[in-house]
Amino acid sequence: MSDGHSRKIVVIGSANVDFVMQVEKLPRRGESVPSSRFTQLFGGKGANQAVAAARAGGEVAFAGCVGDDVFGRMMRENLAGAGIDVEHLCEQPGISSGAALIMVDEAGGNMLSIAPGANGRVTADIVRPLSSLIANAGMVMLQNEIPIESVYAAVDIAAELGAQVMLNLAPAGPSYGARLLKLAYLVVNETEAETVCGFPVEGAARAAEAAAWMRGRGVGTAIITLGAQGAYIDGPEFRGTVPAFPVSPVDTTAAGDTFCGALAAALVQRMPLPEASRFASAAAALCVTRLGAQASIPSRSEIDALLARS
Ligand code: RIB
Repeated sequence: MSDGHSRKIVVIGSANVDFVMQVEKLPRRGESVPSSRFTQLFGGKGANQAVAAARAGGEVAFAGCVGDDVFGRMMRENLAGAGIDVEHLCEQPGISSGAALIMVDEAGGNMLSIAPGANGRVTADIVRPLSSLIANAGMVMLQNEIPIESVYAAVDIAAELGAQVMLNLAPAGPSYGARLLKLAYLVVNETEAETVCGFPVEGAARAAEAAAWMRGRGVGTAIITLGAQGAYIDGPEFRGTVPAFPVSPVDTTAAGDTFCGALAAALVQRMPLPEASRFASAAAALCVTRLGAQASIPSRSEIDALLARS
C-alpha cells in the first residue's frame, strides 16, 4: 500500500519511433505532397509522458514493450538516458517496435497514423506483475495506446493498492464505465471528453459541463485541455480555467503528453493543483514551439524560466 507520500511516477504505456515529415499543407485524400524535411524521433504517448515527467523533475519508471529490433534498443537507451527506470520495459521477440507516421504542416497542425507493434503486447499479464511497483507509486500514469484490458487491469490494481491514477484518455477509446470512480485524475481533450460524456464538448463552457459530468461519476479531478484556450479544471481544490501561454506553434505533437507528464511531476512534489496546472501548461507551451514529440519536451529549468517571465 502506498504511504501517500511517494514521489515515484510509474508510467505504463506505449513507446514509438516517430517518422516525421514536415509539409507545407497536410494532404487531402489521394493527394501527394512534398516534404521539406524528414526526421526520425522518439515518441509514443506513454514514453512521451515518462520523458515529460522526468524532465520536469520527477522520479520515473516506465513499463511497456518494444520489439527485438534496432528501434527497440534505441528507445530503451533513450529512456534510460533521460534518467527513467526501464527495468520493466520488455523486449518482445518476433514483432517490430511501435511506430508512428506523422505529417506536420506549417501551422503546427498534424496528421498521425500509428502501428502499435510491440505496444499491443503490453497485455494484462505484463501489467499484473507490476503490483509492487504500482503499490509504491505516488502516481500511476496511463493512456490508451496499449490494449484496453491492460489499462483496465492497471486501474483496478492501483485502486486496490491505494495508488493514485492519472488517465489520459488518448486516443479516445472505449468506455471506462464504473472505473471512472477509480481515477484520481482524468485528462482529456475536447474530442475525447465528448466520447466520455456523450455530448459535444467545445470551449470552456461545455468543458465545465463535461468536467462536472465526470466528477459526478466519481473522477477525482477532471481536466479538459482546450489547446490555445488553456485547460478547464474541476477538482476538490480548484475549479476554473488555466490559460495557455501564448506561443507561435511549430508542432503540436505531444503537447497533451507533455502537459500530463509535467502535471504528474508537479503533483507528486505536492504543488497545489492550480500551480501544478500552470506549470503543466507552461511545459506544453514550450513543447509546441519545437518539432517532434520527446525532442520538444522542455526541462524543469526551461519551464521555471517561462513561468518566471510570465
Ligand atoms: O501524442 C503524440 C504521440 O502519439 C506521438 O509521439 C506518436 O508516437 C503517437 O503515439
